[in-house]
Amino acid sequence: MRVQNASEALSAVRSGMRVFVHGGVATPTVLVQALVDAAPRLNDVEIMHLHTEGHDAEYAKREYAGTFKVSNSCIGRRPPGLVAALNTISDPVARFWSTVAHLEQSAVIAFRLLAKELEAFGAPAELIERAVAAAEDEVRHAIQTRAIAERMGGVWIEPEVEELEDRSLLDFAIDNATEGCVRETFGAAVGRFQACVAEDDEVRRVMKQVGEDETRHAELSWDIAVWCDSQLTEEEQAQVQRAQRLAYVDLVSACHAPIPVALARQAGYPGPQHALRLVNGMKTLWV
Ligand SMILES: [Fe+2]
Ligand SMILES: [Fe+2]
Repeated sequence: MRVQNASEALSAVRSGMRVFVHGGVATPTVLVQALVDAAPRLNDVEIMHLHTEGHDAEYAKREYAGTFKVSNSCIGRRPPGLVAALNTISDPVARFWSTVAHLEQSAVIAFRLLAKELEAFGAPAELIERAVAAAEDEVRHAIQTRAIAERMGGVWIEPEVEELEDRSLLDFAIDNATEGCVRETFGAAVGRFQACVAEDDEVRRVMKQVGEDETRHAELSWDIAVWCDSQLTEEEQAQVQRAQRLAYVDLVSACHAPIPVALARQAGYPGPQHALRLVNGMKTLWV
């Protein structure tokens, strides 16, 4: 067995990589700190986790926006350039709903941008109209989940989005495949699961509508993907497929993260056993 200290172990992490951080009491706090210490030599590292414990998520601070991108839940579509929310609330239920409300409001921005980009790429008007309607759904989701967050002692975190240069159709298609066809599609299934099993009456009621809306948003993503394919070369389509497969692999990793019991009960959020069942049942969509 080779023994290494944390900084030696973290030397394997390079710019552009995705890093999965185990959650709950298994959060590797020493390694997370070593990752933050390595920030000066890194950029564009995606950190995936669900509910970590034992540190202040320093990598999510504004100063690390160009270094670390945080993916912590499968709830809706995130806009490109979204700055990770610094959410250090210790209660897992309050923290979860604060993150959900932040991501729902972020999805409003994502769909407004999506509509603009579709228009700029000359996409069919019908797709643009559906993206505008989806932004309106997300406004409602943000209001409803914010109310749940505040009732549970959480906070409102206004999304911050960095302005980025215009994207190519290929980059747009890759983003649609990962954020829409994988994340939002899985998010729709999670929403429907929560609507069935959450102990909280308001959560079941809100998530029933959210699950239906997110299913429509997922359908929109798949229809956009078909249109993008019609505009891309075969090589570009293969790149989109590869990105989608990678997003699926990341999703499976994220599904292994344990969920605090209080969160599984109140919000009905699926723990590893149910999340892996869901993801396995949907696998043929992505690979
Ligand atoms: Fe959505
Ligand atoms: Fe939503």
